[in-house]
Amino acid sequence: MTQVRRSRLAPFASVALGMVGALMILGPAADLAASPGGTPGAVGVGDPYFPELGNGGYAVDHYRVDLTWAADEGHLEGVTTIRSVTTQNLSRFDLDLAGMEVRKVTVDGRPATFDRVGRELVITPDQVIGQGRRFTTEVTYHGRPTPISMGTDLFALGWQTRGREAFVVSEPGGAATFFPVNDHPSDKATYTLRVTAPSDQTVAANGRLAGREELGDDATAWTYEVRDPMASYLVQIAIGDYELVDGGTVDGVVVRHAFHRKWATEGRVATEGTAVMIRALAEVFGPYPFEAYGVLVVDDELGFALETQTLTVLGRELVVQGRGADITLLHELAHQWFGNSVSVASWNDIWLNEGFATYAEWIYQERSGGPTAAALAQEAAAAGNNIPPGDPGPDELFVPSVYLRGGRTLQALRETVGDGAFFEILRTWASERAGAHGSTPEFIALAEAISGQRLGDLFQAWLYNPISP
Ligand code: TRP
Ligand code: ZN
Repeated sequence: MTQVRRSRLAPFASVALGMVGALMILGPAADLAASPGGTPGAVGVGDPYFPELGNGGYAVDHYRVDLTWAADEGHLEGVTTIRSVTTQNLSRFDLDLAGMEVRKVTVDGRPATFDRVGRELVITPDQVIGQGRRFTTEVTYHGRPTPISMGTDLFALGWQTRGREAFVVSEPGGAATFFPVNDHPSDKATYTLRVTAPSDQTVAANGRLAGREELGDDATAWTYEVRDPMASYLVQIAIGDYELVDGGTVDGVVVRHAFHRKWATEGRVATEGTAVMIRALAEVFGPYPFEAYGVLVVDDELGFALETQTLTVLGRELVVQGRGADITLLHELAHQWFGNSVSVASWNDIWLNEGFATYAEWIYQERSGGPTAAALAQEAAAAGNNIPPGDPGPDELFVPSVYLRGGRTLQALRETVGDGAFFEILRTWASERAGAHGSTPEFIALAEAISGQRLGDLFQAWLYNPISP
């Protein structure tokens, strides 16, 4: 993979220029509807860290991912149907797909030719699709999904097979291991996830269970609907010996968990604090942004948790110490506001996810009678803080500095603007950008607008200078 060190200010400049260039060739007076000319969509969205993630030329509205899991073989059959809208006259476009064998591609019901180039599935429809047009792509594929590595420090990402059990851990670029996707958080979409599995297994996924159908032949199809826009790295599909646990509702939010049967008792104890945490964070950040929340405990020592939307995935080792996972769970819950509802549009802004979720841990402790956020920020100063959290580089997306110096950035902001303005900034960020995106310059602009102060120097020092203040 080519990894590009970026210029901080203009991550999308090259893509934007490419689009302007294409329009200039057509000329402002060109009749787009009548023009048979189109150009291929870009190979990536122009992410400064991962240039090949995502694709240009269209934006996805909805994915229907229909998978059949052969548990004993670790094999998937897939049909993914993608509703999109073009952003240019499109002669050809890519989806991201890593591994798997593609049997067939159709666009608007007609066969399309396709090619595989690395993790790009290159699709040529039988005619140019005009700018602004809706179109539907259907990809039929199969294979044994294989996790991919994206950088030296990252876990092998995507579909995880553990014997008959399977689940997903994708951040940042693993979704393409099990479905063809515009695999970048700048293009969020709604999802229908339909999974057929052996009837002795249980399927858990993002969103709400909308139906379960016995198909005979010992197979059951489970359908989950995700009605809120979701970034592809947050898709969760888990198939295994799970107990689905109804946790009631908390101020209208449906709480449901999926615990591997071996860890169901531990899972219950570990998640006892869920309602209290949802209420506590809603009080600080505003209403919980989705219709459901819960925790998936898999039968594997993952060594981490990941905030998959509405259904955080947790390694079994985290639940064995009872409530010992509280702060991790609080962190993943905070990501539902910061990261999942308000998403990064490019990966260099990762501190907007991890710094915010870390600061949520500190606020939570402060508000439940523990040490103050100021004291916790002070403590965090001891850990490796000399990677700039505002531009850590693709190999260091999830290093401690992104979390800790990212959190300390918010503490510094709070001390500068005062509690009133600070919490108004966080709440406004969460509400104005719910279901959408936010960038670091946009956050700085909001902080300046609400506080009435100039904050450029503060953010420069905390986010971008190599040495921590
Ligand atoms: N977002 C996760 C967290 O801090 C960390 C994370 C990033 C991760 N990428 C991952 C975990 C890949 C597992 C695998 O909550
Ligand atoms: Zn996190």
